[in-house]
Amino acid sequence: MRGTRGRASVEIDIFTLFPEWFQWFYTQRHVRNALAAGSRLECVGIREHTPLSGGQVDDTPFGGGAGMVLRVDVMEAALRARYGVDPMELRDRRRVVALTPGGRLLDDGYVSELAAEDSLTLLCGRYEGFDERIVEHFASDTLSIGRYVLSGGEPAAMVVCDAVLRKLPGSLGDAHSAVEESFSEALEGNPEYPHYTRPAEYRGWRVPDVLLSGHHERIESWRRERSRERAQDR
Ligand code: 6GU
Repeated sequence: MRGTRGRASVEIDIFTLFPEWFQWFYTQRHVRNALAAGSRLECVGIREHTPLSGGQVDDTPFGGGAGMVLRVDVMEAALRARYGVDPMELRDRRRVVALTPGGRLLDDGYVSELAAEDSLTLLCGRYEGFDERIVEHFASDTLSIGRYVLSGGEPAAMVVCDAVLRKLPGSLGDAHSAVEESFSEALEGNPEYPHYTRPAEYRGWRVPDVLLSGHHERIESWRRERSRERAQDR
């Protein structure tokens, strides 16, 4: 883990059966900014490293049931190919995060934890998920982006990368914009206050007068109140 004064960049490896899905993600501006500032984002195609014939990576679940499960030997081969060590030792060196619907729920605090790391490994499951031994022996963390099931971890990996990279200084155009945003400490963990821009009146819908007043303290306290109000509503 990096100290608070450390390098403001992170190296992320994503293990996936669909590395090409991430091509468009690299083109996003804040992602490009983060990479230009020294962060790294690389995909490892799990299938390319499978020791099984025919590019096999998954298998039917023991005990029966629908769907396919990503094999532990296949994940081990991909991790070994990338890091050259027994993947059991890997999690002592870097966070290895298994993306799974039942995992630890992602929130602003979890994102900040991950953004403070030097390096992250994200493991995307597919079909019915991972052989549990991958989670048990190779992963340091589990992560879920919500209590619903996606057909794979890839969209969740993009969510994690987006949320982590935008925490790093230099990723956003305005360095302040990540500090005071929804769920941040600056807002006491509350959702963000509402924003308005020109025109000040549209179809009779007026922007709150206080925001046009130029009175910074009143604006500040109005925003805090709205933020708290939203926390209570939701
Ligand atoms: Cl991380 N993976 C999958 N497959 N489904 C999810 C998820 C992750 N988070 C919420 N649903």
